[in-house]
Amino acid sequence: MDRIEAELVVLGAGPGGYAAAFHAADRGKSVVLIEQDSRLGGVCLNRGCIPSKALLHATHLISEARVSADRGITFGEPAVDPLKLRSWKDGVIHKLAQGVRALARARGVEIMTGRGRFEAPRQLRVDGQDGRRRVDFRHAVIAAGSEPVVPRAWDLDRSRIMTSTEALEVETIPERLLVIGGGYIGMELGTVYAALGSQVTLVEALDTILTGADADLVRPVMHRAKRQFADIRLGAEVRGLSIRDSRVEVVTVKDGHETSEIFDRVLVAVGRRPSSDDLGLENTAVERDPHGFIAVDDAQRTSDAGIFAIGDVAGGVMLAHKAAREARVAVEALFGGGRVAEAVIPAVVFTDPEIAWCGLTETEAGERGIAVEIAKFPWGASGRAIAVDRPDGLTKLVVEPGTERVLGMGIAGHNAGELISEGVVLIQVGATVRDLAESVHPHPTLSETLSECAEMFYGHATHAAPRRKAAKA
Ligand code: NAI
Repeated sequence: MDRIEAELVVLGAGPGGYAAAFHAADRGKSVVLIEQDSRLGGVCLNRGCIPSKALLHATHLISEARVSADRGITFGEPAVDPLKLRSWKDGVIHKLAQGVRALARARGVEIMTGRGRFEAPRQLRVDGQDGRRRVDFRHAVIAAGSEPVVPRAWDLDRSRIMTSTEALEVETIPERLLVIGGGYIGMELGTVYAALGSQVTLVEALDTILTGADADLVRPVMHRAKRQFADIRLGAEVRGLSIRDSRVEVVTVKDGHETSEIFDRVLVAVGRRPSSDDLGLENTAVERDPHGFIAVDDAQRTSDAGIFAIGDVAGGVMLAHKAAREARVAVEALFGGGRVAEAVIPAVVFTDPEIAWCGLTETEAGERGIAVEIAKFPWGASGRAIAVDRPDGLTKLVVEPGTERVLGMGIAGHNAGELISEGVVLIQVGATVRDLAESVHPHPTLSETLSECAEMFYGHATHAAPRRKAAKA
């Protein structure tokens, strides 16, 4: 068996894993990056963030074309060629995956294609197409990611009962699609398929979609989704799924009433679980929690002194940029660096409109009994929002009383995902609402909703009626 030595081995080449490998190589370590997929980039690049955003971009045009009749510009009914759409999306992925490979090469990171498994606390076995290899390492970073949860009783036929992986392939455009779960994936991919012409029914067990976001931010998304989707059933559950000919029979329950329906395809989007099984962790001192997440400290160290874990497999929010951040924290710790400052991790749901938030949410403040003041600016008062025909938005600030420090920001609206970065910086540097109010924002832009929201805090935003209570100085 081939045997190599590395100062650092990284297991998994997603946005956490390749960031860790690159950063460690930039700091002078010899790094081996192990990935079972022939393409680098992990779920995010190949089966998640990137393909879903490519599809959302492509299908946004369809929704825009539909409403442009009101502006005096009409198009015919769109003709969608799933094959061409898929090959364009694959082209996007290919380009980026090649880019990651080139960046690895430029840094001298050795890429090993195969499935990695710990055989001993400082030894990994890699089973690849070209045979079995052994890597002896000083340190390891586990960045093995996560996979979709599919209850066993529903895992009948992935071409009909799909996870996000199959749904992103857009093999066909089903006439009737059932989406189970109104979280990130259900809402984003439901939006894609609704734009492509599917009649989308969404079933969510809770009484709201997108539970992590404040209710006032979810409202504009829900309002539009109700028009885009054929049906949205909250507080409803799926009792059973069975294959009937080439379609799926689904029994749902809402308010005690059972309904049996036939759908062409079903998308299961009820959460993801850590990919921590079968990594050979029993051959190390790495410990997992009851849900399978690898337990780490605030420097991403596992209970095995030489092994770190980052990203989805290490728990917390399952977001690519959180994984990339943890990659830096782990590599700095590996070099004996001090604690890296706690980071503000933004969340973005790429629905239509988008929802984004960072820092403390109003809901969380309520749950944790933290006293906060809230300022809101409705997009109906934004010139740019009206000019781009998207007044369906809201910008809000969560503020610490007394100090007026910005603790949180939430945005629902067109391009909210781009706008939220300003909130991240404000919170990260400890800025106040006054700092935001006094920073001149270009006109006419959607970013003005942030400075006007700060002005609202003082009761006197230019483009909104003054609040009744006396304006603050
Ligand atoms: P999720 O946790 O966001 O949402 C799952 C939803 O399914 C929840 O609302 C839950 O109440 C519901 N549910 C669970 N069991 C159900 C049942 N039996 N019947 C009906 N509803 C049920 O999980 P999702 O959408 O699968 O995404 C997984 C993770 O992937 C997200 O939490 C997020 O971290 C990440 N992600 C991030 C994206 C982004 O950053 N834009 C995009 C896609 C995924």
